[in-house]
Amino acid sequence: MVRKPTPDDRFSFGLWTVGWSAQDQFGSASRPVLDPWEYATKLAELGAWGITFHDDDVVPFGADDAERERILTRFKQATDDAGLTIEMVTTNTFSHPIFKDGGFTANDRSVRRFGLRKVLRNVDLAAELGATTFVMWGGREGSEYDGVKDVNAALDRYREGIDTVAGYIKDKGYDLRIALEPKPNEPRGDILLPTVGHALGFIAELEHGDIVGLNPETGHEQMAGLNYTHALAQALWSGKLFHIDLNGQRSIKYDQDLVFGHGDLLSAFFTVDLLENGFAGGGPRYEGPKHFDYKPSRTEHMQGVWDSAEANMSMYLMLAEKARAYRADPRVQEAFQESGVLELSEPTLAEGESLEVFLADRSTFEDFDVDAAAARDYRFVRLNQLAMEHLIG
Ligand code: GCO
Ligand code: MN
Ligand code: MN
Repeated sequence: MVRKPTPDDRFSFGLWTVGWSAQDQFGSASRPVLDPWEYATKLAELGAWGITFHDDDVVPFGADDAERERILTRFKQATDDAGLTIEMVTTNTFSHPIFKDGGFTANDRSVRRFGLRKVLRNVDLAAELGATTFVMWGGREGSEYDGVKDVNAALDRYREGIDTVAGYIKDKGYDLRIALEPKPNEPRGDILLPTVGHALGFIAELEHGDIVGLNPETGHEQMAGLNYTHALAQALWSGKLFHIDLNGQRSIKYDQDLVFGHGDLLSAFFTVDLLENGFAGGGPRYEGPKHFDYKPSRTEHMQGVWDSAEANMSMYLMLAEKARAYRADPRVQEAFQESGVLELSEPTLAEGESLEVFLADRSTFEDFDVDAAAARDYRFVRLNQLAMEHLIG
């Protein structure tokens, strides 16, 4: 039996996850839509610490100011009563048909100006509600046809948009950081900033990149056949892992948004191992919330929704326990040594070693025993088998 999650675990959920009524391309909703505060109350009961949402998840698109105020007051009251933290807020720039060609990178300039206003208004809301992360997922920023989008101009406009929002956050003195969320495709045929690597390259070109980082999602990297744990690792290494979207994905296909760990289980194990235990040789750590962005399958009704929300947290806790035992196992520590996992932390050049000295060191090249080094048995398979033993043994 796995223990029940508590707020100390800092698990959080998007309102749109449990709130998804399961309407898809092929069928209508299979579940009722509750009021936003009902989801909040229930998530807190299950042991969640935080909640996140898009503006439109709480206040319907186009609601007037009075209606907006009424709903937000009620929602805030409910989250306070439930003891939930609103840790992240994000903007919906993808559902309404006005955004069919994007928010920040639409060919239509008036749409871009409207999108920017919607985002800036939501920045104010995020700050007012005490959120510290502002996720920006540009799901409609992209195209289906290469000839319809000037990608050079689109990236200019994307940069202009993000820098404008980041500059606004700084001007206002808000304690808020932007986290970009890469995704390769869906809903657009191709989405700009398709992977963590693309997004890191983009952030390096920003004027206000210091407060812009990443919100990598498990399934999004895996949809591109990439390694999510490596994506987290490089984001950490770059000081850019601001937030995470955990879920499950089984191979390269549509965005499945399964429960965390219900996709690639071994990958999920190493994701949790990194998040809980850090790099083998030390280094930057992720300190943020464990945020789930999944969808309860369409087959589930309301009990199934709550079961699946719980399953995300249970999966994480079970994997955390196993990852702790894995690292604490003396055989694993010994295997780290033998496999050279810890040796990699040692710089290739000695401290203070000049290139001149290095080049003159015959033992590194001229007299180096290449055959002996080539014959090294790294025994990576044994190390991986130890992980397997802890995971499923
Ligand atoms: C998706 C994305 C979204 C974003 C959300 C937050 O594939 O639909 O993951 O769920 O995470 O819009 O901005
Ligand atoms: Mn997704
Ligand atoms: Mn997501």
